[in-house]
Amino acid sequence: MAKNFYITTPIYYPSAKPHMGHAYSSIIADFFARFKRIDGFNVNFLTGTDEHGLKIQRAAEEAGVETLKFCDQISQTFRDLSKTLNLTNTDFIRTTEKRHKESVQYLWKELEKNDEIYLSKYSGWYSVSDEAFYNDNEIETVDGRKQAISSKSNVEWVNEESYFFRLSKWEKPLLKYYEDNPNFILPMSKKKEVISFVKNGLKDLSVSRKSFSWGVKVPDNNDHVIYVWLDALTNYLSALNYPNSSDKLYKNFWPADIHLIGKDILRFHAVYWPAFLMASKIPLPKKIYGHGWILSGDEKMSKSKGNILDPLEIIKKYGLDPLRYYLIKEVSFGNDGNISQERLEDCLNSDLANNFGNLCQRVTIFTKKNCDGKIPKNIKFKENDLKILDNFNANLKILRDKIDNQDLNFYISFIVKSMFETNKYFNDQEPWNKKDDLTRLNTIVYTTLEIIRKLSFLLYPIIPSTALKVLNIFDIKENEIKLSTLTNHLFLKGNLDINIIDILFKKVEK
Ligand code: ME8
Ligand code: MG
Repeated sequence: MAKNFYITTPIYYPSAKPHMGHAYSSIIADFFARFKRIDGFNVNFLTGTDEHGLKIQRAAEEAGVETLKFCDQISQTFRDLSKTLNLTNTDFIRTTEKRHKESVQYLWKELEKNDEIYLSKYSGWYSVSDEAFYNDNEIETVDGRKQAISSKSNVEWVNEESYFFRLSKWEKPLLKYYEDNPNFILPMSKKKEVISFVKNGLKDLSVSRKSFSWGVKVPDNNDHVIYVWLDALTNYLSALNYPNSSDKLYKNFWPADIHLIGKDILRFHAVYWPAFLMASKIPLPKKIYGHGWILSGDEKMSKSKGNILDPLEIIKKYGLDPLRYYLIKEVSFGNDGNISQERLEDCLNSDLANNFGNLCQRVTIFTKKNCDGKIPKNIKFKENDLKILDNFNANLKILRDKIDNQDLNFYISFIVKSMFETNKYFNDQEPWNKKDDLTRLNTIVYTTLEIIRKLSFLLYPIIPSTALKVLNIFDIKENEIKLSTLTNHLFLKGNLDINIIDILFKKVEK
């Protein structure tokens, strides 16, 4: 039976074109999607754009473009970025699509039917930039300007008729759910903040707006549009054709395995979303992971701060895979990370060009010259060879567990260490001095090639197109990458002609 896996990124606001922070979330999600796929899972991977609300309406007004047209244009840049990042997303959803709006209205009616929504009046602070309501104690005044303490974004006073969701009612059920499912919110450091927010008391949540119209209409009261977060969060369901519960996508993939998001939007995903779902009697996603921020200087990279790094420029300059590798290796997953071109260049030069790229090049050229360009056949493993090969046997289960706990840092350290050890192995064994002992020479070459094969399987989720280039040495195709084969030391068939590959990574002159 095929095992299913459903992973999502946030759906991004198309208020401005994507930056490195968006690219980061998407690359990490793609890493997990690819890993699960080569581990035999049937993967659904969703990304998209969140297009309603005042934030978008105002951005369009400022640009002097009709709102939907504005969304069309910027949403397309996110879609293009998915291609540029080589994402394997299986869908791209826009909240302005009919399929989505219908799901949202259906969910709304379910909530109304269950008496979870009532009409009243909202007076309070609202941040258009965050599309969030804030309590008095979450607001500060800086230079006479009111702002949210957490995000530093401006807040404005709102006073209007509004529908409310009975969030207060879900305070205890949420706390119980967190307790019963200790891995529901990760990383642990962030989970504590969520729990204390809920423990401080939940007020009913305003879930409609009346003073503007850019949104999904409340079904039986078209003066109101549905709060953009209730609308946006539902994308995870609408992409599976909710409410059609007999639909294959819905049946196979709900509840989602993981909503991967940045920590800025953890409250919406770990408090409001589960409450909406409980209230509509829909199973909850298995995990919410709020990763850290990409910093620029010491601040969160964000459009409103104007400190963004354009992923397209970086990719043009260095290539995609060096960027993917760099972000995964150097930003400690779960924490904030400062990034710089200089560190990216170091990573590219040392790990990718000098280490892995160079190894692949040296070994294939050596094989061409000394083994007739074929994978050696007559081999006899010694302890040294088995030791380095067995490292993969010993760690396969561990790697799977680590990935299921989103311990990317363990995974990448394992790979870096293995690359280094393989280089050292090849140097220490000195196959060039074994020309009078062909079995030994052959065994060293075979072992090194086999490790390159294993490493490329593990590198595939990180640097997919490079891994495929390397695997082309052995004529291994993408659909033949299977993690379960990591334990097979005799995967490569003797006597097969190897293909010579081009230089994998060009060093950057510094
Ligand atoms: O919040 N570092 O959209 P958004 C790391 N539409 N990740 C970052 C980042 C940074 N500096 N900046 C942005 C929204 N991100 C809503 C989401 S979901 C139902 C609706 C990433 O365009 C990170 O994943 O503001 C963050 O949570 C997301 O982009 C916010 O994107
Ligand atoms: Mg944001």
